[in-house]
Amino acid sequence: MRVLCFTIALAFLPGTLAAAERPDWAFPPPGVTGAPRPPETGELKRVPGSTRTYTQSQIDSFNDPPDWFPDEHPPTPTIVAHGKGPQVRACVSCHLSTGMGHPENSRLAGAPSGYIVRQLADFASGARKGAANMLTFSRAMTADEMKTAADYFAALPVKRWTRVIEADTVPKTYFLGTRRMPLPAGGTEPIGSRVIEIPESPERVEQRDPKSGFVAYAPPGSLAKGQFLVASGGDGKTTACTICHGLALNGLGEVPDLAGGGCCGTAKCGSSKKIAVISSGSSIPHSPLLSL
Ligand code: HEC
Ligand code: HEC
Repeated sequence: MRVLCFTIALAFLPGTLAAAERPDWAFPPPGVTGAPRPPETGELKRVPGSTRTYTQSQIDSFNDPPDWFPDEHPPTPTIVAHGKGPQVRACVSCHLSTGMGHPENSRLAGAPSGYIVRQLADFASGARKGAANMLTFSRAMTADEMKTAADYFAALPVKRWTRVIEADTVPKTYFLGTRRMPLPAGGTEPIGSRVIEIPESPERVEQRDPKSGFVAYAPPGSLAKGQFLVASGGDGKTTACTICHGLALNGLGEVPDLAGGGCCGTAKCGSSKKIAVISSGSSIPHSPLLSL
């Protein structure tokens, strides 16, 4: 049930998506690319529960990112663990070995393999717009590499990763590269009609710790409103999401699961679907999300 809530929070947004066609809070501001890095000190970093140590440069490596818990995931295919030279970064460097990802990218764990392959193909053909990185990586991947990566992520279980808290007031945040972080100086501000999704631990997320999740603050009433909309279509406003995505939002066939996706990731991927669904040969225009 809690997993269901993660998606529900996204659906609270009457007006916001319709007005902007995409929710600004789910995307880093235009022009932002990567986080500026402090100079390497050589200090060996650790995360709780792992016996491994890495320097910050190793943690930030494009093709050889850390594997903090090698015994806790299936063998990782080369394209997933290391990418392919300068053209394709290791998928796990952003989506993590658990596939649960960060709010600035998206969850891949448990998504249908066919769905993942289709997204990569749609990024590569330009049918799906999105983060520049994904467009570049997908264009450099072979069909076999897409399938291999998709099978890896599809087989991973969805974990509890995002805690939703309804609140009028939220921590002040800023973007460190593409990542929303709490302002180190602290302070709070009104939430307005945004979802503010930040790391449980800013330090651990910077270390790509696949066990440190996120908190999503949503305006009071969001969960109930979202649940109504998801389950019933909100009194004729749209089609109940559960009809296609499954009663528990766990997916139906190749229609992807939505539960547990995190608020920003789900909103981001959902808002690109108007184009993607049509382009992927399906006759279902994904307008429901856009007209919430
Ligand atoms: C530099 C970070 C980064 C790396 C590395 C990366 N991705 Fe992504 N990925 C993203 C971002 C950001 C998005 C969200 C794109 C959007 O919709 O704007 C994304 C989205 C996706 C999606 C769409 C998910 C959905 O729910 O629709 C798939 C599939 C995907 N990535 C697969 C991969 C695979 C496979 C690899 C490795 C070959 C990979 N990514 C490597 C950042 C990354
Ligand atoms: C008529 C069927 C249908 C309905 C109703 C529907 N969807 Fe979808 N949805 C799809 C299909 C099909 C895809 C996959 C599109 C593709 O392959 O590119 C999808 C994809 C998505 C995605 C991207 C998946 C991801 O991993 O992030 C999101 C988000 C989403 N839907 C949200 C919703 C929400 C929220 C609702 C209800 C307000 C809804 N959908 C109602 C068919 C539907």
